[in-house]
Amino acid sequence: MCGIFAYLNYNITRERRYILEVLFNGLRRLEYRGYDSAGISIDADLLPEASSKFRPPPLVFRQEGKIEKLVTNVYQEVHAVDLDLAQNFLIHAGIAHTRWATHGLPSEKNSHPQSSGSGHEFLVVHNGIITNYVVLKETLLRHGYQFESDTDTEVIPKLAKFVYDRLSENTTFNGEVPAETQEVTFRQVVMEVMRQLEGAYALIFKSSHFPNELVACKCGSPLLLGVKDAEEPETKMDQFINRDVLHDRRQGRSKEYFLASDASAVVEHTKTVMVIEDHEVVHIKDGNVSIFKFDTAKARKTGGLPRPASVQRALSILEMEVEQIKKGKYDHFMQKEIHEQPDSLTTTMRGRLTRGRESKMKTVVLGGLKDHLRTIRRSRRIIFIGCGTSYNAALAARPIIEELSGVPVTMELASDLVDRQGPIYREDTAVFVSQSGETADTLQALEYAKSNGALCVGITNTVGSAIARGTHCGVHINAGCEIGVASTKAYTSQIAVMTMVALALGDDSISCRVRREAIIDDLFDLPSKVKEVLKLDTEMKELAKLLMEEQSLLIFGRGYNYATALEGALKVKEVALMHSEGILAGEMKHGPLALVDETLPIIVIATCDATFSKQQSVIQQLQARKGRLIVMCTKGDALSSCSSGACRFIEVPPVQDCLQPIINIIPLQLLAYHLTVLRGYNVDQPRNLAKSVTTQ
Ligand code: F6R
Repeated sequence: MCGIFAYLNYNITRERRYILEVLFNGLRRLEYRGYDSAGISIDADLLPEASSKFRPPPLVFRQEGKIEKLVTNVYQEVHAVDLDLAQNFLIHAGIAHTRWATHGLPSEKNSHPQSSGSGHEFLVVHNGIITNYVVLKETLLRHGYQFESDTDTEVIPKLAKFVYDRLSENTTFNGEVPAETQEVTFRQVVMEVMRQLEGAYALIFKSSHFPNELVACKCGSPLLLGVKDAEEPETKMDQFINRDVLHDRRQGRSKEYFLASDASAVVEHTKTVMVIEDHEVVHIKDGNVSIFKFDTAKARKTGGLPRPASVQRALSILEMEVEQIKKGKYDHFMQKEIHEQPDSLTTTMRGRLTRGRESKMKTVVLGGLKDHLRTIRRSRRIIFIGCGTSYNAALAARPIIEELSGVPVTMELASDLVDRQGPIYREDTAVFVSQSGETADTLQALEYAKSNGALCVGITNTVGSAIARGTHCGVHINAGCEIGVASTKAYTSQIAVMTMVALALGDDSISCRVRREAIIDDLFDLPSKVKEVLKLDTEMKELAKLLMEEQSLLIFGRGYNYATALEGALKVKEVALMHSEGILAGEMKHGPLALVDETLPIIVIATCDATFSKQQSVIQQLQARKGRLIVMCTKGDALSSCSSGACRFIEVPPVQDCLQPIINIIPLQLLAYHLTVLRGYNVDQPRNLAKSVTTQ
C-alpha cells in the first residue's frame, strides 16, 4: 500500500526533464501498490556552490488521481512557471509517492510529499501507518504548528522541523540533552523523529536545509536501495557499505542512487541493491551512503538522542529481469501473468524435483526446509495462515499435506487468528503463505505465532521480504515478479510449492510411495498441461460475453476444488466487480439452493476425483431446479457430467487430484480477465485495492 521512490544523481549531469522522467517511471512501476493520488518533489534551482539560505524552496507537485494525471499536470505547471526543462543538475535529490489512502480521502492536500509547512523545510513520502500520530499532532499543535491534511503522515515533516529547530538552537528536546551538539545533521534529525514514531513505516526525507542529501528509514514497511555507478556496468564484485561510507573502488565517482518500496522500480536502472532492514537509517550525502541502525523502542525507553551505530551491509545483485516488469505483447499485466504460468511453474519446480529412469530416483528437495522436516512431521498440527488468494492456495494444498504427512492441518485467515488470539502452541508448525511477504495481517500473525513458540515456516514470492526474514525456515515460490493486483501465477506456484512440501514430508513413508511418484510425474507434466488449458482463452472470452451483464455468479466446488471455487469467485469479484461467491458444494442444500433459478449462472467444478459422483448429484439437483449451469469437467467427460445436456462445459485436462486445482483455476482466471475487459474496468488496478496490503 503506497509506493515511495527517490532518485539522487551525484556528480553526473542530468536535465530536469530526465530527473522528472526517472521519478515518474519509478511511480509507474510502483503504481500497483496504490493509485488514488501521487506526488513528487524536485529542486527549483540547484547550484552546488550556493548556500542553502539563498536557495528557493523545493517544488512540490501533488495530484489526486492516477500517475498519468500527475505527469500531465506537472509538465503544464512547469511550463506555466517557466521552469527550464533543459536545466542541468550536477547533483539533485528528488522524491516521489503513489498513494493508497488510509487516513483522509484521496485529494491534493492528502497526497504526499507531506510538508513541514511553507518553505518545505522538510518533505516526506511515507508507506505505512503512524499509530501515535494523534498524540504527536496534539503536541505539535500546542507548539503552534498548523495542519492542512487529514493524514497521519503530516506529523512527520512537522516533527522533523520541530526537532531541527530545537537542535539548531542547541536547546534540549523533551528535556533531554542532544547527543551531538556541534552541527545538526540530517540523519540526526531523522533518528530523533524515528524515536517518536510508532507504527509501520518506510520514509524518505528531503530537506531544504540539507540540499543534495536524502535520508530514508524503515520499520515494518519495505524499502530498497539501488546503487548505480554511472561509469561502469554493475559487476558481481564484493561491494560493501562499510562504516560510514561506501568503501569500494567506485568511491568519489559519479553515482546514481534509487530508493524504492520494491525492486520493480529499480531494476531498469541497476541490479546492485540492498534491502534495508527495520530500524535502519540510510543517509546519502556527497556521493556516499551511510547506514545506521538503532533500536527505536530502546531509544524511546532510555531517552536521549540515539547514538548512531553504523553498520556494514553487503550489496547484492537482483535476480530480476527488466522484461518481468513490462507487459511485452500483452495488454495487461494480469493477462501476461495468466499466460506466463507454464514458465512460472517451471521456475517454481526447477532444481527441486528429480526423476531418474528408476522410479526410486524420484525425489523432492526443498533446501530451505530439509533440516526442519522431522520437526514438522512431529508437530501436533500444521496451521496454514494467510489472506485472500494465499489463504485459498493453502486451502487447496491442505488435503495432500494431511494425506502425505498424517499431521492434522487447520486453516487460519491471518486477521481472524490475530483478532481471536487463537491458541497456538510450541508443538505446532505455523506456515505463513504470502506472495508479497509484506502483508500486515500475516506479519502480525507471524509475530503472534513466534511469541507462542511455534515453528514458523514462510512460503513467499519475495526474497528478503519481512515474512521471508521473520520465519524460521521456508520456501520461495520463485514465480517471478507479480504486478497485476489480482494474484494469478503466484497462486498456482504456491499450490505447487505446498504440494512439494507434502511430498517432502511424506518421503519417509513406504505406503505413500506410489502416490508420491505419480504426483511427481504429473508435476513434471504440469507446464504442458497448463499450456493446454490456456488454449481455452477464446472459449472463456465467449463465456465472458455471455455473462458480462450478469449481477452475480456462483461457483460450486468441493474437496480439492473448494479452494478453486473460492479463488475463482475472488478473481471475478475483485477485477470484474461482479458479485461472485465460491460455495462448498456439500453445503448447497443448507441454504444456497434457495438462490437457484433459471437466470442465475452457476459454475460447478466436477473434474474427476474422489468427489466426482457427489458433484454429479449436485448437478442433478441443480438441473431439477432449472439451474443455469456451466460445468467444469475433465476432458471427454462432458456427457457423463451432465446427463440432460442442458448445460455448457469447460473441459480441462486431467492431472493428479491434488494438482487439479492448478489446472482448474486457469479458465476461471481467464473468465475474470475477459469479464473485466468487457465490462470496461481496470484490470491491473481494481477499484479500491492495492497489492501488498501493508496496513491493517
Ligand atoms: C487477490 C489478492 C489478495 C492477496 C492478499 C494476500 O487476488 O491478491 O487476496 O492474496 O492480499 O497478499 P499476500 O499473498 O501478498 O500476502
